[in-house]
Amino acid sequence: METIRGKTSLDLDFNGLTERLAGYNRIILDLGTGDGRYVHFLADKFPGQFIIGVDPCRENLHEHSRAKLPNMLFVIASAQDLPRELTGLVSHVTINFPWGSLLDSLLTGDASLMCGLESISNSIASVDVRLNGGALVEAGWALEAGAEQIYNNMIQAGWQVEPPVMMNTDALRSFPSTWAKRLSFGRDPRAMMLSGWLAQAQSIECRAVFSR
Ligand SMILES: C[S@@+](CC[C@H](N)C(=O)[O-])C[C@H]1O[C@@H](n2cnc3c(N)ncnc32)[C@H](O)[C@@H]1O
Repeated sequence: METIRGKTSLDLDFNGLTERLAGYNRIILDLGTGDGRYVHFLADKFPGQFIIGVDPCRENLHEHSRAKLPNMLFVIASAQDLPRELTGLVSHVTINFPWGSLLDSLLTGDASLMCGLESISNSIASVDVRLNGGALVEAGWALEAGAEQIYNNMIQAGWQVEPPVMMNTDALRSFPSTWAKRLSFGRDPRAMMLSGWLAQAQSIECRAVFSR
């Protein structure tokens, strides 16, 4: 899989990844990580955990990926085609303020995203999804209706999810990602959060997707 550090790309195979992860029991993966500020924050705060940021857009990652932290890795990949090297490794997935095809896939319950999430997760994985009103409106959904749709799709995909809750401006302002800060000072500082955990071993639908 392609990883990035500063402006330098590096191919990391399964053995290389296993070496990097040795000694870490908890692996957090931030999907649609943007500039990686949240990953950098977590890696700095929790040196005993390994934090992976994933985004297809390499240009935004140059600054935060440069930091010399042994427990941080940035992967260039799209959410609909997650690297096989990550299979079964991830303890906790975060998706913060998705837009574009990542948000669309959550809204449609796209199997390539849902099965990818399931395949990278370990058997007791948990998930947090944070959604913002502006991105949902651009995708043609009101905030509450869009959050409800994603809640239903996650349940369909085998996640046990708590009903969506509102994030107020203070919660957004104190959340350590670039987009949370931008939203909290913007025109539409409304957001909702969904939390859950994987409730079901690999579904028949996902086995079919991966055997294609
Ligand atoms: C609004 S930004 C949020 C960035 C970051 N999570 C934050 O809180 O600052 C949305 C991110 O979703 C990413 N994204 C969009 N489609 C994606 C996809 N199909 N797979 C992975 N990431 C995607 C974009 O590249 C962008 O970085």
